[in-house]
Amino acid sequence: MHTENDMNLASGNSSQQKQEDLRTKILQLKAEKNAVIMAHYYQTGDIQDIADVVGDSLALAQQAAKTNADIIVLCGVHFMGETAKILSPTKKVLIPDMKAGCSLADSCPADAFEVFCKAHPDHTVISYVNTTAAVKALTDVVVTSTNAKKIVDQFPRDAKLIFGPDRNLGNYINSVTGRDMLLWDGACHVHEQFSLEKLVKLKAEYPEAEVLAHPECKRPLLLMADFIGSTQALLNYSIHSDKNTFLVATESGIMHEMQKKSPDKQFVPVPPNDSTCACNECNFMRLNTLEKLYLCLLNETPEILVDEAIQIKAVKPILRMLEMS
Ligand code: 13P
Ligand code: SF4
Repeated sequence: MHTENDMNLASGNSSQQKQEDLRTKILQLKAEKNAVIMAHYYQTGDIQDIADVVGDSLALAQQAAKTNADIIVLCGVHFMGETAKILSPTKKVLIPDMKAGCSLADSCPADAFEVFCKAHPDHTVISYVNTTAAVKALTDVVVTSTNAKKIVDQFPRDAKLIFGPDRNLGNYINSVTGRDMLLWDGACHVHEQFSLEKLVKLKAEYPEAEVLAHPECKRPLLLMADFIGSTQALLNYSIHSDKNTFLVATESGIMHEMQKKSPDKQFVPVPPNDSTCACNECNFMRLNTLEKLYLCLLNETPEILVDEAIQIKAVKPILRMLEMS
């Protein structure tokens, strides 16, 4: 007689088998089609584990600029696929779920941003990579959270600068560079959600832990951080720190790679405000699944396309970023 436990075990095994089958089929299709799979650190662990490249926004743009593959499958959000397409316009760029958008990119519509920039014609326009292709086309130089300080530092001290769209990253870069950039009032709904109150409680629970925070978080949370940086910088810091416990204030997907790189260390997610859940996940990033990745490679859709006139304008500030990084 089969018990409920046997059934659960069997369904566990069959879902493991299904995952394994999907992995095998994805790897076969990838080889047949000369495709490369690129994944952001905010993807689920199964997608990160099958990707050829796992990285932050800067690493994904750098790899997209130099890949020899015919197809790029960008496991991340739409603006990351657009950046890859802008840098490699002759390649086919696929994304597992076309609805994987970004609240930060959405907080900066191109028509309104154009009005803002035109109102300050003597300003150089710096845009975070988390923007649409149309916003990049209005931009002088793109930055990511990894290189924003380094690039802003290269402008003369008296340069008049616009920074968009993230007000938190903009404020942070202003504070570490001593600038007074004009900021667009946008934000990421995930990074703005971290609960200061819950972080204070976690600090009391883990007094030895270091707080790692992404600069898209609000200032009061950043003031509690021992280290502030992009996802890649937070990962590097956790590897080299002599501490054993970390409270992580960025999308919890990064903890997959942190734990892989430092299996003996402990990573505790800082929870969001309005949730009983301990983790803070980006609902857009999490739309991508292993199954959708397989289907997208199989059917070569959904495909990211960028209008040619926009591509020609948008590639310049991205290439400038890659040169200045
Ligand atoms: P980075 O990859 O530059 O750390 O940016 C984080 C992010 O929010 C991506 O959407
Ligand atoms: Fe956009 Fe925030 Fe999600 Fe990154 S975490 S993709 S900035 S909504």
